[in-house]
Amino acid sequence: METYLLDWANLLFRWAHVITAVAWIGSSFYFVWLDDSLERRPARTDLPADVDGELWSVHGGGFYNARKFLTPPAHIPGPLHWFYWESYSTWLTGFGLLTVLYLFNATSFLVDKSVADWSAPQAVGLALGYLVAGWAVYDLICRTFGQMKRGDAIVGVLVALYVVGASWLAAHWFAGRAAFVLTGAMLATIMSGNVLMVIIPGQRKSVAALQAGRKPDPIHGKRGKQRSVHNTFFTLPVVFAMLSNHYSMVWAHPLNWLVLDLLMAAGALIRIYFVKRHTADPGAWRWAAAGVAVLLGVIAWLAPAPPSSAAAELPPPSYAEVRRIVGERCVLCHNAQLASKGVMLHTSELLLGHAQQVYQMAVVQKLMPMNNATGITEDERALLGRWYLAGAKAD
Ligand code: HEC
Repeated sequence: METYLLDWANLLFRWAHVITAVAWIGSSFYFVWLDDSLERRPARTDLPADVDGELWSVHGGGFYNARKFLTPPAHIPGPLHWFYWESYSTWLTGFGLLTVLYLFNATSFLVDKSVADWSAPQAVGLALGYLVAGWAVYDLICRTFGQMKRGDAIVGVLVALYVVGASWLAAHWFAGRAAFVLTGAMLATIMSGNVLMVIIPGQRKSVAALQAGRKPDPIHGKRGKQRSVHNTFFTLPVVFAMLSNHYSMVWAHPLNWLVLDLLMAAGALIRIYFVKRHTADPGAWRWAAAGVAVLLGVIAWLAPAPPSSAAAELPPPSYAEVRRIVGERCVLCHNAQLASKGVMLHTSELLLGHAQQVYQMAVVQKLMPMNNATGITEDERALLGRWYLAGAKAD
């Protein structure tokens, strides 16, 4: 019953998380596009002094006229709309999903004993610490170097190096899948932290100063802009880190942290392309080309070696061998008492009924045994594969 309810919590958090993330990324993309597409001086001589730019757009049968003011105008006639719940609700639902999936099942999902042998409470503590420290160190980098001369560039380089270091650490502390999700969750925490701790408070202070008849401190605008640029370039990498944990070919690699960093870099390059394209930069395509080149490089790098011809010529293995392997490597977590994900493999009938899933999980995707808890060998995986491809028969 408990697993059943946890599965529901998982499904509902995931659903809500995808929807809130779509809303957040959608509004973020929209405002980046809007800002880059505004018509400004000198092309537009007719703009009032306090208006930085303007554009017209059409959507859903209506025509919209957006104007950008760099400081809040003295009088705002209607309510001022803020955009932050998209970000907060994405973080909250994501943290809920992380909790029901990874923190409640720390021994199966967070810990891989061949990486680091933590107890469940240690692993949970480390995962939470990783998220909190992730934000604290990033914030320190921005505050220390952000306002220097060429501060944006210095911070950009330091943050990139910091992400590489953090992903390396995650890959040396947690199971591959968890390392990818936690690195993504750390970046996502930074993104929401930027909204909660820097961007929105800065905007509130500027509005309050103007309403009190004072000139707002420009530091708020500068700081907010720097964080908002980081958030723009984090979006594609974070979504990649979140989705990639379904693909063992990326996280099961011995240098999985490097794989993750390269693929996140490809995402950031592609995001730069989109941003440049809005400003009609004719060289924008180079960024997309660089991102695609990195992707293709990783695809070529991770390509599995072709099966040796000797293996293909071997006769199909005996069913007794198959039962022995499944008995030793799988039944521990797939039996009448403990049926992980409802899968039981302790009788011949059940094994034959699940042959296709066994092949998928243990041979193709290598997701099972979970974190290879039972130490299955590559030869045993290959043997299960030959048995399945020869028709998965019980002799
Ligand atoms: C240490 C425990 C453990 C061992 C050993 C183990 N599994 Fe699993 N298995 C799990 C857990 C936990 C899940 C549920 C995973 C999830 O919810 O994503 C699972 C899920 C599965 C699923 C269902 C996957 C799905 O998403 O529908 C299959 C099939 C499976 N295992 C096959 C195997 C095979 C084959 C072996 C042996 C080669 C094996 N398992 C060994 C723990 C284990």
